[in-house]
Amino acid sequence: MVESKIVRNERYGQDFYGMTVDCPNQARMGQFYMLRAWGSYPVLSRPISVFDSDGKTVSFLYKVVGKGTEVFAGLKAGDGVTLRGPLGNSFPEVGGKVALVGGGVGIAPLFLAAKQLRVACPGCRLDLYLGFSDQALLTDEYQRVADSVVIDVGGFITDKVDPSGYDHLLTCGPEVMMRALYGKCEGANAEKVYVSMESRMACGVGACLTCSRKTVGGNKKVCKDGPVFKGKEVFGL
Ligand SMILES: Cc1cc2nc3c(=O)[nH]c(=O)nc-3n(C[C@H](O)[C@H](O)[C@H](O)COP(=O)(O)OP(=O)(O)OC[C@H]3O[C@@H](n4cnc5c(N)ncnc54)[C@H](O)[C@@H]3O)c2cc1C
Ligand code: FES
Repeated sequence: MVESKIVRNERYGQDFYGMTVDCPNQARMGQFYMLRAWGSYPVLSRPISVFDSDGKTVSFLYKVVGKGTEVFAGLKAGDGVTLRGPLGNSFPEVGGKVALVGGGVGIAPLFLAAKQLRVACPGCRLDLYLGFSDQALLTDEYQRVADSVVIDVGGFITDKVDPSGYDHLLTCGPEVMMRALYGKCEGANAEKVYVSMESRMACGVGACLTCSRKTVGGNKKVCKDGPVFKGKEVFGL
């Protein structure tokens, strides 16, 4: 557990916020933190993916959906926040032509993924596909970390992805979107899809089974065995 201070917490669009906190840990793409900014209620900390991490600060992109995220939205620079992490596995360091496909707040971990893939593989082609329900956000920021950014507002971002043009596809967002992307990848392409899964979490470190999910390899803990899985592990059942 680390007690951190908010550096900034700003609103984007209707209900998205970007929060940056002091934190010396370097996270890997796809990892998350368990966050809380309250005493005993709500009981559980909330899992939020790392949007960016530079070894001094960690940034999160979150959507207000309930009690915990409402508290986060009210925090100001200098307020305290408790972090546990970085937790979970990470996206693999893939190369070649890579599509990063995000929907809604699922775009969050793809920012760090694009940044870290660029460093790991300077010659790789990185195409971002970002789907929003009502308003595109942070497009300039995403444009800085990828070779191209394709945006969809109000439709299906997966309609704009041709999996046959890619060596690897990394995705995060609503499960129905990730399943649709996996469904578009036939044969060898299905091997190349990595998905970042969401699940309700309690401990975040593999101790309670709250986040357990059925996979082709048996039940897996999203917090510890994931959140990143091969698409065929979760959708190939
Ligand atoms: C590994 C991981 C990474 C995540 N990364 C992000 C992120 O980067 N940005 C972000 O905004 N959110 C992210 N989430 C989802 C986030 O944890 C939930 O939105 C948050 O816990 C909701 O807390 P709340 O108290 O505001 O809502 P609650 O009052 O607890 O719930 C409000 C509504 O949200 C639903 N909900 C709550 N938790 C989850 C969950 N884990 N998955 C799906 N639905 C949920 C509830 O069913 C309910 O309908 C992530 C979740 C996981 C597991
Ligand atoms: S949240 Fe406790 S095992 Fe995953």
